[in-house]
Amino acid sequence: MTQKIVLAYSGGLDTSVAIPWLQDKGYQVITVCLNVGQHGKQMDQIQQKALKLGAIQSLVIDGQDDFAENYVSKVIKSNALYEGEYPLISALSRPLIIKKLVKVAHENNADTIAHGSTGKGNDQVRFEAAIHALDPEMKIEAPIRDFQWSREEEIEYAHQHKVPVPINFDSPYSIDENLWGRANEAGILEDPWNQAPEDAFALTQAIEKTPDQPDYADIEFKNGLPVSLNNKKMKLADLIKELNKTAGKHGIGRIDHVENRLIGIKSREIYEAPAAKVIMTAHKDLEDITLEHDLAHFKPLIENEITDLIYNAMWISPLFDALNSFIDKTQELVNGCVKMKLFKGNVTAVARKSEKNSLYSKELATYTSANSFDEQAAAGFMKLYTLPATVFEQVNHIHSKAKAQIGTEQ
Ligand code: ARG
Repeated sequence: MTQKIVLAYSGGLDTSVAIPWLQDKGYQVITVCLNVGQHGKQMDQIQQKALKLGAIQSLVIDGQDDFAENYVSKVIKSNALYEGEYPLISALSRPLIIKKLVKVAHENNADTIAHGSTGKGNDQVRFEAAIHALDPEMKIEAPIRDFQWSREEEIEYAHQHKVPVPINFDSPYSIDENLWGRANEAGILEDPWNQAPEDAFALTQAIEKTPDQPDYADIEFKNGLPVSLNNKKMKLADLIKELNKTAGKHGIGRIDHVENRLIGIKSREIYEAPAAKVIMTAHKDLEDITLEHDLAHFKPLIENEITDLIYNAMWISPLFDALNSFIDKTQELVNGCVKMKLFKGNVTAVARKSEKNSLYSKELATYTSANSFDEQAAAGFMKLYTLPATVFEQVNHIHSKAKAQIGTEQ
């Protein structure tokens, strides 16, 4: 009996060539294309393409809400930017794709999963780490990595098997996208001294073309997550899509980043994440008035760890779960609204309010007569606050040289 295999399918050349290749190896191929909000992709065409190339079944699964509510949400709450820049676009979708693929494999008695990652990227690690965690018995095929085709060989194989080859395929970009943004690498971008040409971008306008009037976005948050945009209640996936359009029009969210991959290579990436940039800036701003001082200063330590775990393929791990419980606790009182100004590639929080949870007290902060801060208490605070350092200096005279010399003369 021929064995069934479930292939993570995007409709692009690599995963399309994988269909006849896996068939030649004796598999019956079931393709799964997960809709995580890829920009401008026709899912029905992708589905048909796989069938035409010989898949015995071609599934398109809508994962947009799952992706927004259970994956993107964690990045928002923990302000997660890898190396301070990358909002984890691709890293986030991998565990969800595998969750769905493993389910399809079990339902169809398939004992192998295939993915189209190369051997040089992080995605192979994320795919395979999730497969091992969810089903250690599951076998894995990675044709693009393991067969090590050159571009010419791949094109030749594609022609032989009637797989359509896109024009300009000799120096292509490698693109991955979802609701949360778009990642673009390879081709001309491989030289970090090459400025990314305009055709590398799809979600954002060049600043030269952005409107001369700003747009404003009022984003309302509940428990650290956006729930409405300009007073219109929206589910997270829709809110992100809407903001991608408005912020993209203003050229917001272009990121040009040379990043450290898990597998040791430095790579130059062009990201576009318009909505992510706006939402994360707003979220951080709301935390500034709702998180207590010590908590606000401690939280970035956990955020940093969570960010690395996501990037480094550890979505399914007890540390990740435990740290997210901490983050969820911190978000219980992150409620309120932030007004964002979108203009010429920049997004700025220009006003914020939190009716129930604002810790900002005008009475304490004001310099007018409405002041309720006890300034007498401030003088005593300084004495006690500096006491340990004062005692140390009086004993050791590190900074008060004159006295220090007298000290050594004695
Ligand atoms: N470097 C990013 C990451 O590791 C993006 C990878 C995107 N994949 C792609 N085929 N372009 O998460």
